[in-house]
Amino acid sequence: MRDVCAVILAAGEGTRMRSRTAKVLHPLLGRPLVEYPVELCLRLGAKRVLVVVGAQAEEVKKALAGRPVEFIHQGEPRGTAHAVLQTEMALHGFAGTLLILAGDTPLLRDETVQSLIDTHTSARARATLLTARVADPTGYGRIIRDRQGRLRRIVEEVEAQAKEKRIPEINAGLYCFARQSLFPALQRVPASPVKGEFFLPVVIQVLLQQRMKVQTLQTSDATETLGINTRAELAQAATILRERVHQRLMGAGVTLLDPAATYIDDTVQIGPDTVIYPGVVLQGATTIGAGCVLYPHCRIQHAHLGDHVTVLDGSIILESDIAEGCVIGPYAHLRPASRLKRKVKVGNFCEVKRAVLGEGTKVPHLTYIGDAQLGEKVNIGAGTITCNYDGFAKHETVIEDEVFVGSNTNLVAPVTVGKGAIIAAGSTITEPVPPDAVAFGRAPQVTKEGRAAATRKKREAMAPPKPDDD
Ligand code: UD1
Ligand code: CA
Repeated sequence: MRDVCAVILAAGEGTRMRSRTAKVLHPLLGRPLVEYPVELCLRLGAKRVLVVVGAQAEEVKKALAGRPVEFIHQGEPRGTAHAVLQTEMALHGFAGTLLILAGDTPLLRDETVQSLIDTHTSARARATLLTARVADPTGYGRIIRDRQGRLRRIVEEVEAQAKEKRIPEINAGLYCFARQSLFPALQRVPASPVKGEFFLPVVIQVLLQQRMKVQTLQTSDATETLGINTRAELAQAATILRERVHQRLMGAGVTLLDPAATYIDDTVQIGPDTVIYPGVVLQGATTIGAGCVLYPHCRIQHAHLGDHVTVLDGSIILESDIAEGCVIGPYAHLRPASRLKRKVKVGNFCEVKRAVLGEGTKVPHLTYIGDAQLGEKVNIGAGTITCNYDGFAKHETVIEDEVFVGSNTNLVAPVTVGKGAIIAAGSTITEPVPPDAVAFGRAPQVTKEGRAAATRKKREAMAPPKPDDD
């Protein structure tokens, strides 16, 4: 690949998506569309990767930030041939092969692109293009061949005759060109009489007229040439890519109980012997360790789970770090910057945000822990709330090792509870609790002996009881 420079066309608006977002920025299993061809070219070791940007250029650049690519601006999207022409200056002096890919064709396999390059090189062709036979060629450029099967030209959908529209062989939009032959030929591409745009496939006809050698390579897997022009095609691509992700994960030892009902981004890593129930959604830069169990309808985004973590039904984990052996849920919500050390339990209907929970700490039921530091082996009773917000600012709660917090406690931050302290159930804690202290933060109970009978009598006098029908 040392003699190959790649050009990725990503300047179009993508009108058919009917979106305010440029087409190549639409996400497909956790990555914007344009990232797929870019990563592919980098994996194959292209000497340079040029990305032609136009619509929402700044956003496209941002989406590719940090990758070793160069951006070329296409002022107005005047067609794919016009887009390629914009790279002429940048490629001045380069005499090798230009690999041209569309920014909206994310399913191409490395091997297919590599074999296109190999075909082009070994045939010493001036141009080589990838074709596919598809069940529904609507929307694609059709490959026109003569009786001997020799390539003649490519006709776009908008210009095709009814008979041509029935041709099932399509142009995948992936090409190799000899750089020196391409740019002069591009100058001779006329604007489409129908659309007024300059179509890149027309350059093939120009080269053929100049008696230059043009090769075609037909792929055996038509799914990989899918171009995304519409939302329906985006969903179709997601189905195909999801299937590939599932194969990769199952091949690496992950159990998917119902792959068709599992939604895992291409960016997610999962260790062996992890079991995934239906309805699980794993997104973004998420890593899951080995031997975990993710029960139905969990969503985990940009989070790291260690080995042997159990996530019970209906839990949400966002941008958090969960160490080995933790048990989460059912119906727990771990919001960003939650850090759970080993063997922590965050149970039924609990919410945690920006908090560290030390090893072996338990928060089993109906609790909110926000802006807090909890030590090791802390036990938090049901219904405990860190009152972290006073209406103006957020404040921190610190709970040291081995503290026991009784049920239904309010911890009014900022507040500290020292090591080994015990807080009585129903307390509202506003003052620091020193280590080993027992704190009662509640009004003393008033008990009046024998008063119940008198109370009932008084009530009955006011409203006699109805027959026992409740
Ligand atoms: C194109 C091909 C068609 C082929 C199909 C494969 C043309 C004219 N037609 O059609 O033969 O079968 O791809 O998927 O090339 N772009 C720019 N600047 C522009 C126009 C487009 O950068 O001025 C970019 C788009 O962002 C897109 C790519 O080029 O990533 C392809 O453009 P698109 O409009 O999707 O072409 P198709 O109509 O799909
Ligand atoms: Ca397209």
